[in-house]
Amino acid sequence: MHAPAIVLRAAGEPDQLRLEDVEVAEPGPGEVQIRHTAIGVNFHDVYVRSGLYHTLPLPGIPGIEAAGVVTATGPGTTQFRPGDRVAYMTRQYGCYAAARIIDEDLLIPLPDAVSDELAATHLLKGLTAYALLHEVYAVKPRDRVLVHAAAGGVGALLCQWAAAKGACVIGTAGSQKKAGFALQHGCSHAILYREEDFVRRVDEITAGQGVQVAYDSVGKDTFFGSLACLAPTGHLANFGQSSGAVPPFEVSQLFKKSNSLSRMSVFVQLRDVGHRRDVARQLLAAFGDGTLSPSPVQRFSLADAAQAHRAMESRERMGSLLLVP
Ligand SMILES: NC(=O)c1ccc[n+]([C@@H]2O[C@H](COP(=O)([O-])OP(=O)(O)OC[C@H]3O[C@@H](n4cnc5c(N)ncnc54)[C@H](OP(=O)(O)O)[C@@H]3O)[C@@H](O)[C@H]2O)c1
Repeated sequence: MHAPAIVLRAAGEPDQLRLEDVEVAEPGPGEVQIRHTAIGVNFHDVYVRSGLYHTLPLPGIPGIEAAGVVTATGPGTTQFRPGDRVAYMTRQYGCYAAARIIDEDLLIPLPDAVSDELAATHLLKGLTAYALLHEVYAVKPRDRVLVHAAAGGVGALLCQWAAAKGACVIGTAGSQKKAGFALQHGCSHAILYREEDFVRRVDEITAGQGVQVAYDSVGKDTFFGSLACLAPTGHLANFGQSSGAVPPFEVSQLFKKSNSLSRMSVFVQLRDVGHRRDVARQLLAAFGDGTLSPSPVQRFSLADAAQAHRAMESRERMGSLLLVP
């Protein structure tokens, strides 16, 4: 069987993302074949396409998050049947395709109430937010929490969930419109960090006490400022580098306020199948009971993956990006 897929042959600009016809093999032991209905676009995909990450062997099919329907099962598979609706996140790439083979252990069954579109755009981001808020640093009521890119995909989920846990959330955002969005999605305070000195503003907002945790996915432009915002024993959870890689860093800088630092990977954090499915259930329940509201979705056809990447890199965008095969 053949299916359309985006194949990256060389790292570079978005126009390297080109549609090709690829062969989809029959599923082997423990594998299923899926027809994708919705494919999530994540900032990770930009790192891979641009060459910042060398984690996808080229030529290769990018993409780490999707939803769809099981169309065939391999020998010895026990967990899924043709017709089952599923979603997944994966470090094995290959999501920018109309169909693929995948290890059945990676799949999360989708309840009727959850749309393919929601799952494909919010599973990876939501699992990331869960792990950051519950495992990397367990947010408590009345904690002061700083979230960068608070109107972004992961950012908006972090803010809503931290607020639901009773924390006071301070968000940074790149525009007035995004700051308004952040204030409607869990933030008590929003800082325009391209115009204002966010370290000074956090100091004012917290009356000099700093934050117990800073969630920083922006990296190069914010890392040292985030460190400066921490309260004594506060934790800096760096989990991305949307502005570029964090420069080399003296560990002794943590000593002054007895701070700690982590650099989480959601794939490693939630590598256990049972744990990942359990967290996914909690995530989908949080969308179901209104604790979390999904961000608006901008749709592109699979063939227009390059346009989706341009939108992802443009800081005008808010919400999630979706490819439709
Ligand atoms: N560690 C993990 O396991 C894990 C898992 C998932 C995601 N992540 C990371 O989480 C972050 C958010 O991912 P996402 O997919 O939800 O993306 P996103 O937050 O929707 O988009 C990234 C945001 O970063 C901000 N930004 C700051 N400097 C930027 C720059 N120079 N260029 C572009 N954007 C810049 C922009 O918001 P403003 O305009 O408001 O500044 C932009 O909207 C990414 O860094 C991603 O790598 C990590």
